[in-house]
Amino acid sequence: MGNNLIPLRIAGVGYSLPETVITNEDLTKLYDTSDEWIYTRTGIKERRVVSGEENAIDLGYQAAKNAIEKSGIDIEELDLILAASSAPPDLYPAIACHIHQRLGIQRQIPAFDITAACSGLIYGLSIAKAYISSGMYKNILIVATDNNSRLVDWTDRGTSILFGDGAGAMVVTASEDGVDDVIAIDIKADGNYGNLIELAFDGKNCPLVEQYEEKPKGIRMNGRGVYTFVAKILPHYVEELVAKAGMNADDIDYLIPHQANIRIIQAVQERLGYSDDKVVTNIKYYGNTSAASIPIALAESVEKGKVKLGTTAILCGFGAGMTWGGAVVRLREGIC
Ligand code: UT7
Repeated sequence: MGNNLIPLRIAGVGYSLPETVITNEDLTKLYDTSDEWIYTRTGIKERRVVSGEENAIDLGYQAAKNAIEKSGIDIEELDLILAASSAPPDLYPAIACHIHQRLGIQRQIPAFDITAACSGLIYGLSIAKAYISSGMYKNILIVATDNNSRLVDWTDRGTSILFGDGAGAMVVTASEDGVDDVIAIDIKADGNYGNLIELAFDGKNCPLVEQYEEKPKGIRMNGRGVYTFVAKILPHYVEELVAKAGMNADDIDYLIPHQANIRIIQAVQERLGYSDDKVVTNIKYYGNTSAASIPIALAESVEKGKVKLGTTAILCGFGAGMTWGGAVVRLREGIC
């Protein structure tokens, strides 16, 4: 390798989805819309949503358990838990701390959340890579979980059609054979575009200081603005990432993108010159599950045999912030 950096192995991936399904047809009971409008603009037919007491922690816990089992790593060997979420049920404790407790881990290890919206899994992988390559930690659990169905404004037909709930998880470890499963990784943000997707926290002023002012409720998104921004940057960004990996697009087996809009996915696919069988899409059934969308797409497509192991894949995503990121990874046998 020519340096002292420790390579990373992706040891296990897992996912979890709530059972309740909401179809486009169901949404016509809430506002003036149609299956045809939603499907042609987004590629979404239905999405899953939490119900009752179920929340992002439950989904994240299931996905984490799943990924840990696949990894063969004992929970007491974990050195760090990262949770990526933009829809936590509480501001604190962090989801990562909840997951530590739910898994029944006795060791006191660091656990914290990352707020990078739909880019959360890539941000988490990038942080994990830095810790592993420096030798600081060996085994890291990354959980990406969101239940945006509790945060969208269900009267806003421009936004609530898009989101679904779910969780995905990944266990990474120091590679024993010198091969790094993260061939290239990059994360970015541009806060100047922060107002494209916003969710205000409804904190209250001290009444002695000033009158409390009601803040707008639910996710507010400039859909057209997000679309234009992402369609402009993402295809070129992914192309640069492939170059950074020292590869050609043809050398890579799959594109496993964030599932936000089928037309954005197709723009990236076209730029890479990939046929449909190289591109993983499940947006039709789950909508946009935010941070969870990439790991769900990865784990489910392997489970269903669409993605073969012993291969390579491009992961890429974008979200509120605006944040975005991508990775070229190796998918070894046994991860799922
Ligand atoms: O990870 C989060 C990232 N977010 C995204 O990736 C969002 C990316 N953007 C998109 O996917 C698209 O912008 C949307 C699907 C959200 C919207 O599609 P659009 O073609 O950009 O529509 P628009 O917002 O420009 O609205 C066009 C028209 C408007 O009507 P008028 O003003 O032209 O009469 C909207 O009121 O469509 C109307 N509209 C709807 N009509 C039927 C908006 N939502 C709906 C709806 N059903 N659900």
